[in-house]
Amino acid sequence: AEINLQEVHDFMISIAKQAGKRIVSAKPTTQASGSKKNSVDLVTETDRAVETLISTSLRDKYPTFSFMGEETYQPGDKISAAPTFICDPIDGTTNFVHRYPYVCISLGLAINLEPTVGIVYNPFTQTLYSAIKGQGAYLNQTTKLPLSPPTPLETLNSCLVAVEWGSDRSGNDFRVKSETFKRLAATREEGGGMVHGLRSFGSAALNLCGVASGGLDIYWEAGCWAWDVCAGWVILKEAGGVMVDANPGNWEPRVDERRYMAVRGGEGQKDIIEEFWGLVDGAFE
Ligand code: IPD
Repeated sequence: AEINLQEVHDFMISIAKQAGKRIVSAKPTTQASGSKKNSVDLVTETDRAVETLISTSLRDKYPTFSFMGEETYQPGDKISAAPTFICDPIDGTTNFVHRYPYVCISLGLAINLEPTVGIVYNPFTQTLYSAIKGQGAYLNQTTKLPLSPPTPLETLNSCLVAVEWGSDRSGNDFRVKSETFKRLAATREEGGGMVHGLRSFGSAALNLCGVASGGLDIYWEAGCWAWDVCAGWVILKEAGGVMVDANPGNWEPRVDERRYMAVRGGEGQKDIIEEFWGLVDGAFE
């Protein structure tokens, strides 16, 4: 049967808001048993409880859909072509633990591996971003994104760029990140420029919504997971933005890959992406 995307979208919003109440009233303490691969990859009891709340409600209402969540993911799990809810119960866990209110529930629906419905909700600021493929992206369900008509993207030098360090901070992962960040931030000898600013706010999904809104020009990260990007991806695309694989030359990332670059709407996207690839080329080897 045909899926009523509007109904799914509305239900996802109601779940995100319920989850939001739970997050706001929780006392964020990381459990010793809860820390994941290293000392900065945090997980709290609230992450787990919120994922259970979300998955239980979604499975109840949509028993034939699949579910993938950050806290229950097992290495090797794959996203199939079936309608799949892809959820990060708390994106920005480190912020949550530190009580810095840049935290959200990231809830997406992928169909045929294509991000199709996206809900990103920051319960601390009560900011809701949402989109259905083909129907535009909205802030608080009323204001269309981007928030103002996009100016042309002229050069990388005039961009405000979000990057994230993530939790993989050793070996080649660290080298690739720091090398690309350095190339972006440094004054360039030829041409003399540098990006206007580099920002690391700590939530992939909210960064994507920042690009969708138009305030951020670019967001680049190596190391995201499907639950970090699925929801924000729909919102970004519906706001006129694009998502590319940040490996030089790859224009079509999949939701289950790990390196992304998001560029806001506006004339000149292709040129900016090529300029970015030119700048970071060689940083990946
Ligand atoms: C993380 C955040 C962070 C990003 C990481 C994500 P989490 O999600 O979005 O900004 O750098 O790649 O895994 O762990 O807070 O859910």
